[in-house]
Amino acid sequence: MRRVEASAPGKVILFGEHFVVRGYRALATAIGLRARVIVEESRGGSIRFISPNLKLEESISLNLENPIHREFEVYTAILRSLKSRGYTIIPHNVIIDSDIPLSAGLGSSASTSVAYTLAYTTLHDSPLREDELLEVSLEGEKIAHGKPSGIDVNIAVSGGTIVYKRGEKPIRIADVNIPRGYSLLIIDSGIKRSTRDAVEHVLRLSGDYWSIMEYIYRAADAIIDDAIEALRAGDMRRLSTLMNINHGLLSSIGVSRLELDMIVNSLRESGALGAKLTGAGWGGCVIAIIEDNIIDSITSRLLKYKVYRTLINASGARVDYSTL
Ligand code: PMV
Repeated sequence: MRRVEASAPGKVILFGEHFVVRGYRALATAIGLRARVIVEESRGGSIRFISPNLKLEESISLNLENPIHREFEVYTAILRSLKSRGYTIIPHNVIIDSDIPLSAGLGSSASTSVAYTLAYTTLHDSPLREDELLEVSLEGEKIAHGKPSGIDVNIAVSGGTIVYKRGEKPIRIADVNIPRGYSLLIIDSGIKRSTRDAVEHVLRLSGDYWSIMEYIYRAADAIIDDAIEALRAGDMRRLSTLMNINHGLLSSIGVSRLELDMIVNSLRESGALGAKLTGAGWGGCVIAIIEDNIIDSITSRLLKYKVYRTLINASGARVDYSTL
């Protein structure tokens, strides 16, 4: 049986989440945690989705008409989009395996959407061009997020580090320079939340108070220019201070919460150079830049949480294995 395995990276938004939804810039980097999707032809007359992590298994008919578990609706939206582009829907199994925690702001749904789209179209012998891969994967993201800015699928496709502005081609920062001796830590608060709800809250608040909020949006956008310089220069202190400022702006639009502020403050008190929430907020993850020599003392204060120490600027979507 023909089989293709593809993967795509998760991401952290270093700067500009939420502000990006209204057309301002954000800066994101791909991380070492990846989603992997295996697509294999099958003889059954249906499509079978298998997620060992979620302990879920369900099938849908080839006409995509019967209801399916919400977790798998992302993939059926992708298949509908492919069908409208002339792809035939063939019986196959989809096995989803991911290192990326769910609903934590690390781009899990975008990464699985991109990996699945890449795997299925490769199995079809007609992989999509990069712009088409983005468009189709975004159909999956819309199921998960409502009105996504598109930043998550863009970074999952390209990898690396990008400046993203809605409706424009992302700018890749090719010369990111992270000096030795520093690490990015991701601390998962374990609080699950809905990106859609947080985005709606911010859109409502910014709509109602735009004459004030405009300054906050513009301040967030101004951070991006400084952050690019700091990333190129390897200036981790400046980058960290910008993260602290960005966290303050996110608090001001109401997407932090006590638990996230406690993690951020505990990190700073124990010597992190900078810390902020990442992604939609209200839960999910905090990121921090720390000097490697204090990693142990910092992580010992965070035993309650899952902590990831991962590379950034990781590679984009790719086919890892195929029997074609
Ligand atoms: O889904 P998350 O937590 O990675 O959030 C995505 C970032 C937002 O700016 C909040 C939403 C978006 O679509 O850009």
